[in-house]
Amino acid sequence: MANQPTRDDKFSFGLWTIGYNGTDPFGGPTRPDLDVVDAVTNLAERGAYGLTFHDDDLFAFGSTDAARQNQIDRLKGALADTGLIVPMVTTNLFSAPVFKDGGFTSNDRAVRRFAMRKVLRNIDLAAELGAKTFVMWGGREGAEYDAAKDIRSALERYREAVNLLGDYVTDKGYDMRFAIEPKPNEPRGDILLPTVGHAMAFITTLERPEMVGVNPEVGHEQMAGLNFTAGIAQALYQGKLFHIDLNGQRGIKYDQDLVFGHGDLQNAFSLVDLLENGGPNGGQSYDGPRHFDYKPSRTEDITGVWDSVSANMRTYLLLKERAASFRADPEVQQLLAASQVPELSQPTLNPGETYDDLLADRASYEDFDTDAYFGGHGFGFVRLQQLALEHLLGAR
Ligand code: GCO
Ligand code: MN
Ligand code: MN
Repeated sequence: MANQPTRDDKFSFGLWTIGYNGTDPFGGPTRPDLDVVDAVTNLAERGAYGLTFHDDDLFAFGSTDAARQNQIDRLKGALADTGLIVPMVTTNLFSAPVFKDGGFTSNDRAVRRFAMRKVLRNIDLAAELGAKTFVMWGGREGAEYDAAKDIRSALERYREAVNLLGDYVTDKGYDMRFAIEPKPNEPRGDILLPTVGHAMAFITTLERPEMVGVNPEVGHEQMAGLNFTAGIAQALYQGKLFHIDLNGQRGIKYDQDLVFGHGDLQNAFSLVDLLENGGPNGGQSYDGPRHFDYKPSRTEDITGVWDSVSANMRTYLLLKERAASFRADPEVQQLLAASQVPELSQPTLNPGETYDDLLADRASYEDFDTDAYFGGHGFGFVRLQQLALEHLLGAR
């Protein structure tokens, strides 16, 4: 069957996503807990290549060393049996009560030291499992009240923590990079590093900025009213797209974590087009994991969970196919040229041109006909967008 996922597609899923038992702020679980071996087996059968997890997804917070090791061994056994890999690992610094005011940026110094130790231990596990990316989502790093958090000190403590982790990974010789995941709010009223732009600016303050990139999530940027594809384009432009969380979100509201494409479908289309066709010579612009961070809705049973796993991958592949047909359409190529889209890649100045040369160029100013842009000069972006929509709908 066409659009059948294979390992080469690099689809990965968080253990917390398929393992979500339906608990929300208004009700308890609607599904039983999912065992990690079950998770690995089912993902492998459906064509995924990777499983990711937080430490606490695999072994409960506060587990004895023996219980922790037992779960690690069970995971390793399942990976060996199926060939699935662990491309990314992350740490839970948000569920346990001790983290109620954050981990790296809790006002309580002892909590911050505990958080650092929890992460260092988990980095060792990530390295042992061959994970190349270590994600940091600071869900509790924030506040509800302005007087409660000194934001500049909090950023300094965040920086102190990430610098320490960079030293550790470097000294240990681990082949691993960090990816900060921005989110504007939820669970905190306001979260530090709320958007891709904030996170990338923060990274420039670090001691080892080259080791740290971003892990943007579709829904998180959209919760802030931002265009996800545009954010990803800037992360690519700055060489900072180290990982990506795909899901669906409909507008500015709570974090919906829908299946990829079940939110803003046009933005999902342009995203896949960017990732798959936005690189040099029209190839991929990003070759890392296509990681789904969604929640199977609490209305679903376990069959619905596995259906939603397949839905994420199938939607991605369908959008990839639609984006390829959009790029291959000669009329699209014509309209792109008519809309002057490729012209934007031409430098505005001529080679070697100085501001004196520009000032001497009468055609650029004195003789430039600005009136021609009123009435005479339309860009045709609407027709171009309509063609994109028609390819997306399968009408072309
Ligand atoms: C969320 C986040 C998390 C993170 C995860 C990995 O909104 O809950 O997206 O799911 O991605 O903690 O660090
Ligand atoms: Mn989320
Ligand atoms: Mn996420």
